[in-house]
Amino acid sequence: MSPGMIVAGVMSGTSADGINVALVRVAEKRRTSLGSAGGNFEFLGHAEFPYPAKVRRMVLAAMNSKNAKVADLARLNFLLGELYTDAILAAQKKLRLQVELIGCHGQTLYHQGTPALFLGNKLAVTWQTGEAAVLAARTGLPVVSDFRPADMAVGGKGAPLVPYLDYLLYANPKTGRIAQNIGGIANLTAIPAGASLDQIIAFDTGPGNMVIDALTGQLFGKPFDRDGKMAASGQVLDSVVARFMRGTFFRQKPPKTSGREEFGREFARRFLRACSGSGEATASRATRRTIGADQRDVIATATALTARSIRDAIARFVLPRGSFSELIVSGGGAKNSTLMAELANEIGAIGLSLRSSDEFGIPSEAKEAVAFAVLAHETWNRRPSNVPSATGARRPAVLGKISYP
Ligand SMILES: Nc1ncnc2c1ncn2[C@@H]1O[C@H](COP(=O)(O)OP(=O)(O)O)[C@@H](O)[C@H]1O
Ligand SMILES: [Mg+2]
Repeated sequence: MSPGMIVAGVMSGTSADGINVALVRVAEKRRTSLGSAGGNFEFLGHAEFPYPAKVRRMVLAAMNSKNAKVADLARLNFLLGELYTDAILAAQKKLRLQVELIGCHGQTLYHQGTPALFLGNKLAVTWQTGEAAVLAARTGLPVVSDFRPADMAVGGKGAPLVPYLDYLLYANPKTGRIAQNIGGIANLTAIPAGASLDQIIAFDTGPGNMVIDALTGQLFGKPFDRDGKMAASGQVLDSVVARFMRGTFFRQKPPKTSGREEFGREFARRFLRACSGSGEATASRATRRTIGADQRDVIATATALTARSIRDAIARFVLPRGSFSELIVSGGGAKNSTLMAELANEIGAIGLSLRSSDEFGIPSEAKEAVAFAVLAHETWNRRPSNVPSATGARRPAVLGKISYP
């Protein structure tokens, strides 16, 4: 391909697990219309930087809008600017490449995509933090940041933004595909065979790893269930899964978005109570000798909820709108083998086969970071990159703000 520009995409998601940096070479000029633009970029490499425990705690505290302190929010903004810089410099060194442009999503502290009344005004609002001016000054590179507000300013929900990349990667004239990302929250982009950009269906399906993470934290003092080992050693409490699947979020028609507000600590508490109170838990406790056993059932059940809610969302809201044969998974959840096995089962029952974004040349944990590299490049060239059919925006918008070094 033509030389193009090396762009770093930087992502830190709602899991607050850390920073993902992807380096992508993007061609300067489109040779084709968006419909067949898949060859316009090349994945060069990826690096991941977990937040130090203290930073993670502060990020999680900052997301707790009732208790967050404004001085700490201001400090965190600049601190993240420093950490993002360190991450990019380390990624450049590791991959032996020189970045030319940065696309930095930032850390979402608050997102409310649907307008709600505030002081007599109906407003949809969002806030991503991580000071791009620091990043630009320290790296000496231009930075595109703050992608979501431009979409919201034209009536969109500001999310999801990754469908633009999903379309470039997975649109196919013959095969209907669903891109399923499993981060803290799980979301999908469904691309019917031969679809144009405005026929894409995209929405959040519910919890990804968020409930699992909250419960492993609470019950085992671990940030997540590595490789799904705890879930694999527990039993799924089917009645609890069925009960939570009746919740309003799952029944709500797309477009819909969710976050910690929906599936955060409070949800995890209710879920844990339901597991402890279910007759099934008592039955399994009686048959097990190890004290931790029924706690593993809780993790198994949270894992099953994620798999079931994805299948349910597809069956209810996607399959009626076209024929689809593949589900392509990305995000940290792809590393959870128990979750993947259950998901393969669930979607197998509705005629889909499970694939991984790795098979398409993008490591599952890097995909969202790649998206923000590609979006930044569009903005740099003054091209719009929201997908109005996915966000509900009235029109295409050039996303983000540019900070110069
Ligand atoms: N080896 C692994 N085994 C199980 N789960 C994992 C593993 N690696 C990552 N995860 C899960 O993925 C989450 C991070 O996924 P990510 O895609 O970065 O989400 P987000 O975009 O919300 O930050 C972790 O919090 C964890 O739950
Ligand atoms: Mg993450």
